[in-house]
Amino acid sequence: MKDLLRLTDLGRADLQLLLRLAHRFKNEPFRQRSELANQTVVLYFNKPSTRTRISVATAVARLGGIPIFVSPRELQLGRGESIEDTARTISRYARAFVIRTFRDEDVARFASAATIPVINALTDQHHPCQALADLLTIKEKIGPVESVRIAYVGDGNNVCHSLMQGVAMLGGTIAIATPKGFEPNPALVVQAQTIAAETGGAVEISHDAARATTDAAAVYTDVWVSMGDPEDERARRIEAFHPYQVNASLMRRARANVKFMHCLPDHPGEEVSQEVLDSPASIIFDQAENRLHTAVALLHALLEQRLVGSP
Ligand code: CP
Ligand code: NVA
Repeated sequence: MKDLLRLTDLGRADLQLLLRLAHRFKNEPFRQRSELANQTVVLYFNKPSTRTRISVATAVARLGGIPIFVSPRELQLGRGESIEDTARTISRYARAFVIRTFRDEDVARFASAATIPVINALTDQHHPCQALADLLTIKEKIGPVESVRIAYVGDGNNVCHSLMQGVAMLGGTIAIATPKGFEPNPALVVQAQTIAAETGGAVEISHDAARATTDAAAVYTDVWVSMGDPEDERARRIEAFHPYQVNASLMRRARANVKFMHCLPDHPGEEVSQEVLDSPASIIFDQAENRLHTAVALLHALLEQRLVGSP
């Protein structure tokens, strides 16, 4: 397996291996590692980022390498050089290529032209690096994913898609509640439900936030307006999503020791109340920290060719 473009590129055993490696690297953060000694990793950001940018750069440093940040404006790509020629050229210099952009098709084009590993650092449809950190956090803070029920309340977006895939792959249950018109991508839902049928998990889709949250061990939400969503949709979205705010009254439907999860950045007072963010239930900064440990694990495993990919 060369690239990670979506979580389902991984086999189930790969996913379990990555979580074990991340746990190990988390416990020995400053052990000298040299997988990337004298080598560079190119990080291309066509959208803003705090967590992904800093965690992946730090992961590169922990493996002995040097991160190089680029944005489209700084590359000839911004003046019309093709994705393919950009990928072929960077492959001659760097050891891996990490890309955050809009269209999934563009990342796929980078990956097929590149001879080095390509990692999706968020597209409109997927955020696999986030899901790796989320699954590790669930394992650490709640328990084995296969015995966990997670409610995802809000927009059926990139973060929702990757989390849904990850929970299904590990045999857990995810109950997704969105307003009408903001459901997750139907093809990805069918795929995740097929995976869940094999792993003993479940993927439930509804418009009922209260029902999805009932008995959940974690309640997860994300912003109502993602990067790249048309800004003129903002008012319509806020109105449609308003009943889906994660607040204390929704959290009371879940289990007694429920955890609150969010990929960040958050918008207090929109998708989540300040009260829930400030409550002991919130594990959002554990998720943020685990972005680093899972990035180390992912880079290590791709570079050392330890991943076999989905069958
Ligand atoms: N969660 C996440 O990907 O955050 P950034 O946009 O800050 O990278
Ligand atoms: N859904 C959000 C996630 C940000 C990390 C977005 O795409 O903007």
